[in-house]
Amino acid sequence: MTFCPGQLGFQVAKRMEAEKAHKLAVWGLSKGLVSSQQRVYPNLACNAAGLTLDNPVGLAAGFDKDAEAVPGLNKMAFGFLEVGSITPKSQPGNPRPRVFRIRENEAVINRYGFNSKGLDYAARQLDKLRSSGVKLSPLGVNLGKNKETEVALDDYVLGVQQLGQFADYLVVNVSSPNTPGLRGEQSPEKLVPLLDAVLKERSKLKNLPPLWLKVAPDLTDEDIEGIVEVFQTYPVDALVVGNTTLQRPDSLRKSAYKLVGGLSGAPLLPISNAALAKFYKLLQGSTPLIGVGGVATAEQAYDKIKAGACLVQLYTAMAIHGPRVVDDVVGGLSKLVAADGYVCVDQAVGTASN
Ligand SMILES: Cc1cc2nc3c(=O)[nH]c(=O)nc-3n(C[C@H](O)[C@H](O)[C@H](O)COP(=O)(O)O)c2cc1C
Repeated sequence: MTFCPGQLGFQVAKRMEAEKAHKLAVWGLSKGLVSSQQRVYPNLACNAAGLTLDNPVGLAAGFDKDAEAVPGLNKMAFGFLEVGSITPKSQPGNPRPRVFRIRENEAVINRYGFNSKGLDYAARQLDKLRSSGVKLSPLGVNLGKNKETEVALDDYVLGVQQLGQFADYLVVNVSSPNTPGLRGEQSPEKLVPLLDAVLKERSKLKNLPPLWLKVAPDLTDEDIEGIVEVFQTYPVDALVVGNTTLQRPDSLRKSAYKLVGGLSGAPLLPISNAALAKFYKLLQGSTPLIGVGGVATAEQAYDKIKAGACLVQLYTAMAIHGPRVVDDVVGGLSKLVAADGYVCVDQAVGTASN
């Protein structure tokens, strides 16, 4: 057995209270305390959603909220990394406890509520990373809004202004369930002015980072049609489907029902896959899709790709199984793509949609 400091740290962290464990993991990764994993697989290299990637498996937002853990995350098998959500002003988020592991369901419920050290801090972190000379995996910056801000688009515009220059892609996150009213920004009436303002601000950046929109998995068919229609006038470079769910599937441990917050991990897999399939059916490849929710195995990542996602992301599986899961998902995906006779993962995108 090889020595893996990240996996060893995980054995310690998994016995700790969830938020303490999260903080320890971010600290360890900020010091680079994780074994290097294989990231490059010739049949997984892809150009998607405005990025050129070694593989299509990325880290979802929310693990590295303040862009502190990139030195370690960059050694892992992820093909791309996403930091945030970052709010303009620093804010504490909701009172603790606010994150809970539900082991028997391989799930997490969180109500962090955008705890963020703010744009200035993130800009310093990202500037340091960019000037370090270390070659980084494509790095996305996920933008949020402060709880007290009344006009949400003002906060997203500030995020683009201050952090756009450091980002390989930007994500407008209007789908976290723990900021009151945020999901209302997904309605066409709110989305039109929001995307209009953000796309204008993005066009002022020299590096022109691709702009992704992250939505909830809890949308009705009507909500989905409304969002797709907005893209005809305000095209984003990719749609991330999606965030945590407010649903509580029957499979969930009963005592977890009463926990307030967004549910992620295994119980989210069928919910997020259903939303992904609906978006793919309507968009027919016109907007690239990023599949997120419940991915813990190579098969699950591959299913999202076959359902229409050109890229996938994961978070909760790492909290439940430790850093090795990333290696397993990426390596396993390469084998599955080869076993189906594809030269390249792109060829599998949408093959299972009907
Ligand atoms: C503890 C925790 C915090 C999260 N924070 C954020 C966040 O700040 N911004 C965001 O866009 N998504 C956030 N997410 C959602 C994840 O990025 C992802 O969309 C969701 O967890 C589904 O993927 P998973 O099942 O692989 O975790 C968070 C998820 C968890 C578990």
